Amino acid sequence: MMGLRVAGTGSFLPERVITNDDLSRTLDTSDEWIRSRTGIAARHLLEPDTPPASMGIAAARAALRRAGLGPSDVDLLIVATNVPEEIIPGSAPFIAEGLGLHHEPPFFDIKAGCAGFVFGLAVAGAMMDSGLVRTVLLVGIEALSRFVDWEDRKTCVLFGDGAGAVVLVGTEGDRGILGAALHGDATKLGLLRIPAGGVRLPASPETVAAGKHFLRMKGRGVYQSAVTMMERATLEATERAGISLADIDWLLPHQANLRIIEALVKRLGFPRDRVLVNIDRVANTSTASIPILLDEAVRAGRIGDGDILALTAFGAGACYGTVILRW
Ligand code: ACO
Repeated sequence: MMGLRVAGTGSFLPERVITNDDLSRTLDTSDEWIRSRTGIAARHLLEPDTPPASMGIAAARAALRRAGLGPSDVDLLIVATNVPEEIIPGSAPFIAEGLGLHHEPPFFDIKAGCAGFVFGLAVAGAMMDSGLVRTVLLVGIEALSRFVDWEDRKTCVLFGDGAGAVVLVGTEGDRGILGAALHGDATKLGLLRIPAGGVRLPASPETVAAGKHFLRMKGRGVYQSAVTMMERATLEATERAGISLADIDWLLPHQANLRIIEALVKRLGFPRDRVLVNIDRVANTSTASIPILLDEAVRAGRIGDGDILALTAFGAGACYGTVILRW
């Protein structure tokens, strides 16, 4: 593929922080249970009256600013999300409107579970490689707090809201996507669902009364699949990139659960001090988790020129994949 460079990164986390202790005031749970099972200590939640797209707009503006570019430089906007601003027309138009993309570049949503950002990166790279576009704004945004059942302790403690963005520009040289492995295992589509509110089961007073518009998850199944899927995709992407695991400077795993990350790292035999983690502070922000993690690492000066990054994720569908990127 042609070279691409991450010219800027940005992220946004809502101001409101909810700790495990806050949750245990209204829910039969505890800080000890949540921390020991998931590694999560707190999450940021969007205020109920704030439009979720505002998070994506803020993250995108920061990424463009750091890239030294403006809205008119964007050739393509891709937005990865599980829960769009509206079912029609999705999230991308709202973010395009907020950014003022008046020159009418194409924009679209990608829905690939929590792997949406990784899929989006591969799609962006391929479109750049084809010569169709030169500068891509890729946003991962999630406000799952609006779709979790706050009375279901098995799911609500896991998620947080947020957004992350990257600006990708074409470049000469050897930077860019070295290899990728993307997969979907539809036999696992029952692991994570919001059963109502789509066309199969449109929202109705009955579906709302039955709580079918909330996210439902088979936690054990997700756990087992996640570890093996991310391991497989990472090994495959590494092989396609023509490198070995030892060449990877930083592993950026989707922040779903610290125990999943630890199990993955153990199976890969990857050094723990080369794994980026922020789940303790932000919980699982789904498609936003990797771009937030990346932005924090870039701003902390952890990622250097020429470093090789492996971005790996799994999610609803079940979609999973890994992209290997030379910085
Ligand atoms: N607080 C206290 N007790 C709880 C809580 C809670 N928040 N949640 C569940 N429990 C209880 C259950 O009710 C159950 O009690 P019971 O035996 O009396 O019925 C007990 O703890 C064990 O429940 P399990 O669901 O079997 O707990 P498990 O050890 O599997 O941990 C967890 C649950 C943390 C969700 C785990 O399965 C997991 O991490 N799965 C992966 C989830 C995940 O990563 N989801 C992200 C998916 S979205 C995405 O990123 C693609």
